[in-house]
Parts: sequence; structure tokens; C-alpha cells
Amino acid sequence: EEAERTERIEAALAELGDDVVILGHNYQRREIVEHADFVGDSYQLSQQAAEADAEYVVFGGVTFMAESADIITDDDQTVILPSMEASCPMAGMAEALQVDAAWAELTDAAPDAEIIPITYMNSYADLKAFCASQGGLVCTSSNAADAFEWAFERGDTVLFLPDKHLGENTAYELGLEDELATWDPWDPEGKDGESVADADVILWDGYCQVHERFRVEHIETIRTDHPEAQVVVHPECRREVVEAADVVGSTATICETVAEADPGETWAIGTEIHLTEHLQRWHPDVEVLPLCGDACMDCNAMRQIDPNYLTWVLEELVEGRERNVIEVAPQEKTLAKVALDRMLEI
Ligand code: 13P
Ligand code: SF4
Repeated sequence: EEAERTERIEAALAELGDDVVILGHNYQRREIVEHADFVGDSYQLSQQAAEADAEYVVFGGVTFMAESADIITDDDQTVILPSMEASCPMAGMAEALQVDAAWAELTDAAPDAEIIPITYMNSYADLKAFCASQGGLVCTSSNAADAFEWAFERGDTVLFLPDKHLGENTAYELGLEDELATWDPWDPEGKDGESVADADVILWDGYCQVHERFRVEHIETIRTDHPEAQVVVHPECRREVVEAADVVGSTATICETVAEADPGETWAIGTEIHLTEHLQRWHPDVEVLPLCGDACMDCNAMRQIDPNYLTWVLEELVEGRERNVIEVAPQEKTLAKVALDRMLEI
């Protein structure tokens, strides 16, 4: 079945030629990654989208990534997401309307603060637009520290959305661990006006349901069972997990770490399981272990991009039909582009 599907995908791609480019996030299934023209982390994919000149950008990733590609590409380019169900739960944890309301409360609680909002790439276009409108920007896990520095050149407080763990880990990296407060939009008691007024970094209380499941005990078990192993984790992991690891970084950093390992080294990988499996395949000389053992660290949103859907959208393009087009509303697009361009410039 897979061989037949591969043939169909290759035939469609041959027909479409330079009209189509396939971008794939590192967490995509093998059957998607194998057909991608470029595989990488969120930042690299946004750069690739900005540079792409194909008429169609078929995105192997989640909705917010495809939206960002639509914002960055030219108006005559079309972005296609093979499944409309690929929505990242973390991106849904900070809705623009909710952030708008919180912004009013926050600026009330800290009237003297010059707050700069930074949103992680894992957010929808309307929130990116909001951040731009308040003088802020977008970041990914590979440039969060640079984004903080950019913000502190322009204000004295950062509101970081939606991932509290990436925000906290970045604050530690910059020596701001004593300047943190958390804003829990769901818990009226959790909003401490005083601590928010004093804080330099305010963390929105969102998280990734995949990375939050990693625990220090997973690292302890690996170190006991494989004393030779080194541990690399993604900064969406909890602070204590990051502290117990040897290396922390975006999925591109995780890829580089294993690519640069000497043959025979052992690396335990604390991120989504598909990337761990790719690394095992790509680097057979390195022993690659999932940090979580048998626990299932699978991202349901990324998994929605099924190779059968990829076949379908490509064959439909051959027939002249555009399916699953991701199009950001023009009024959001212009502002969201400002927030993304600020990131691409730093
Ligand atoms: P990066 O590839 O930028 O590290 O992002 C990880 C992620 O969770 C994307 O959803
Ligand atoms: Fe969202 Fe986490 Fe999946 Fe990334 S791994 S798409 S942050 S749920």
C-alpha cells in the first residue's frame, strides 16, 4: 500500500514540477518527511517559506505554521495544509480575545510598566497581529532569548505567550529567574497584581501537552540504565527537566546535536517521538534513545497530516483543484507580518 501511495505522490510531484514545494516540520511522520523538499524547525520553515517561489507551498505541520507561511509568502502563492484538523493545543491556549482582556487587566495592575508582548510562533495569526500592534514580536524556540533582548531594548517588562515553560527557560538563560510572575487567565485567584507589577517577565499559563509530560524521573532512569547516555531536551519541557538535561534547544538544535555526535555515542531525546525515530534512522552510528522509554510522546496535531491526505491534496492540484487552502484574513495578515518580520530581522 505504501509503495503504491509513494508512486502516486511522486507522479503528482513530477506533474506539478516547480509549481509546488513541500515543507515538513521535524515532527512529521516518516512518510511525509520523505517527500519534503525541506525538513526543519519552526524558524527554518518560516525562512524557507519566505524564500520559496513555488506557486503552492504544501505544509507538513500544524495550522499555526501554515498560517505563518501564508503571512510570509507573496499574495500570489497559496499555502495548503493536507489536514484541517492539525491544530496545536498550545496555540489554542491563548486566544486573541482572551489576551485582549488580560492586557487590559495587566496594564491596569502595572500602570507604570512598559510591557512588550512576545508570542511564541505556536499561536494564531490574530495573536501575532495583537503583539505587533502593542510593539511586540514573534519568536521560536531557537531565538526566544534574542526576542527577549529585543523587547528589553524597547520596554521594561515582557509578557510571554502562550508557553510558560519556554518563557521560564528563556528567563533563566538570561539571568531573570527572580523576575518572573505567572498570569493564569483561567484562575481569577492566580492573578497576583502586585507580583505582576514587580515582575520583568510575565508568563502566560500555557504549555505543550507533549513536552510537559517529560519528568526528571525519565532522565534519572536513563542515567541509571544507560550511564554513558547524554540527554538533549526541547525548551518546551518543564524547568526541572531542562536543568537535569545536558543540552537544551529547538528541534534543529536537537538534530545538530545528534548529527555532530561521534559514532558510538548515546543520546536520549526529550521531544516528540517522530523526531526521535527520524534521528535513529538518519544516524545509525549513534545510539538514539527516547527519553521517555515506552511512554507515548506523540503529538496528535502533527499526526493529523496523514500521507493519504498528502496524496489527495497533490492529486487535486494536478486536476487544478486547490484543497485545504490556509488563508489569513487581510487585516490580520499585515500586522502579523510585522511581528514575524521583526523576528526574521533579529
Ligand atoms: P521547533 O521546531 O521550533 O523547536 O518547535 C517545536 C514545536 O513544538 C513545534 O510545534
Ligand atoms: Fe503543539 Fe506541542 Fe504538538 Fe508542537 S508538539 S504542535 S507545541 S502540541
